[in-house]
Amino acid sequence: MKDQYGRKIDYLRISITDRCNLRCTYCMPEEGIVCIGHDQILRYEEIITICRAMAQKGFKHLKITGGEPLVRRGAAGLIRQLKAISGIETVTLTTNGILLEAMIQDLADAGIDGINVSLDTLDAKIYARITRGGNLNQVLAGLKAVLRYPQITLKVNCVLSGEDWEENAISVAELAKDLPIHVRFIEHMPIGPEPNKEVTRQDLVKEVLERAYGTAVLSERPMGYGPSVYYRFEGFSGKIGFISAVSHKFCSECNRVRLTADGRLRLCLQSKESVDLKAVLRGNHPERLGKIIEQAVYRKPREHHFEEQSIETTGMSQIGG
Ligand code: GTP
Ligand code: 5AD
Ligand code: SF4
Repeated sequence: MKDQYGRKIDYLRISITDRCNLRCTYCMPEEGIVCIGHDQILRYEEIITICRAMAQKGFKHLKITGGEPLVRRGAAGLIRQLKAISGIETVTLTTNGILLEAMIQDLADAGIDGINVSLDTLDAKIYARITRGGNLNQVLAGLKAVLRYPQITLKVNCVLSGEDWEENAISVAELAKDLPIHVRFIEHMPIGPEPNKEVTRQDLVKEVLERAYGTAVLSERPMGYGPSVYYRFEGFSGKIGFISAVSHKFCSECNRVRLTADGRLRLCLQSKESVDLKAVLRGNHPERLGKIIEQAVYRKPREHHFEEQSIETTGMSQIGG
C-alpha cells in the first residue's frame, strides 16, 4: 500500500522480543533494560493474525528482529507459519549470531530466505569489549553453519567505531572476499545509550576499502529489501554494502514499518508515533485491524530528524533495529 507521500510500503520488521543475550555498548546499558512483561509481549498467534492482515494490505516482506530473536523459544516455528501466509514472499532474520549454529537446521527447514548477522570486528578481544562478554567463536561458527545452506542469503552488519575502525573494516570486509557473504557497514545512528557516539561515515570507509581492494563499482542489491546500497570489488564473492542513514539519508525510499514486541505498529525508526495493535486484538476487534493498519501506514512520517539532535534513548533492542 502507499503512504501519504506516495511511497510503497510492503516491508514489516517484527521484533519478537526485547531481550538479548549480549549487551552491545551502543545498544544497551550494562545493566540491561527493563524488559516488557510476558503478558505484554505479542503471542505468536497474534503476530500471525497481524501479518495476515498486513499481507492483505500488500505487505510482501517480513524481517524478524529482537532484541535477539533467537532467544525466544519457537522462533523457527513462527517463521514457518509466516512463510505460509498468502502474499508473503520473503521472511528473513537479523541476529547477533550467538545461537545460530544451534538453530540453523530448524531455520532452514522453516524456509528462512535470508539471515543478517551483526559483527563489528573479527578481533575476539574487541568483540568481547563491544558486546560486553560475547564470544566471537560462536558467531563465526554460526556464519559457517549458514554457509552450508546456499539458498539462504547471508549478510553481515558492521557498525564501525573507535581507534581500530580501519583494521576492523578491512578484516570484516575480508569475509566477503573469500565467502559468499555480503558485508554492510552501518553508520551509527543517534539511537540508544550512546547518542553522541562518533559516526564513521560511508565515504571514509569506502576510501579505506578502495585503498586496499581497488575501485568499488556500484552493484545490484542481493536478495533483500532494506536501505543498503551495494558495491562490488574485483575478485570478491560477496558484495560490500553501506547503510548510511546519517550521511546518505534514504527516507524518501523508505518501504517499511515496524511491529514492536509489545504489539505497537511503529511508523518510523526514530519517531515514537505508533498504533497499539495489541489493544485492537485483545479488545476483540480483529475485524478492525485492516482499516487501522491502513490508516496508520498512510500517515507514516516523511523522514527522520537525526541531524536535529532530537535524541532517542530507546535502544535498537526495544525497537527492533
Ligand atoms: P535486508 O536488506 O532486507 O536484509 O534488510 P536490512 O538491511 O534493512 O535489515 P537489518 O535488520 O540487517 O538492518 C540493518 C541496519 O539497517 C540496522 O542498523 C537497522 O537499524 C538499519 N535500518 C533498517 N531499516 C531502517 C530504516 O528504515 N531507517 C533507518 N534509519 N535505518 C534502518
Ligand atoms: N545505529 C546503527 N546501527 C545500530 N545497531 C544497533 N544500534 C545501532 C545504532 N544506534 C545495529 C546492530 C545490528 C542492527 C540490527 O542494528 O549492530 O546489526
Ligand atoms: Fe543485542 Fe543486537 Fe543490541 Fe547487541 S545490538 S545488545 S546483539 S540487540
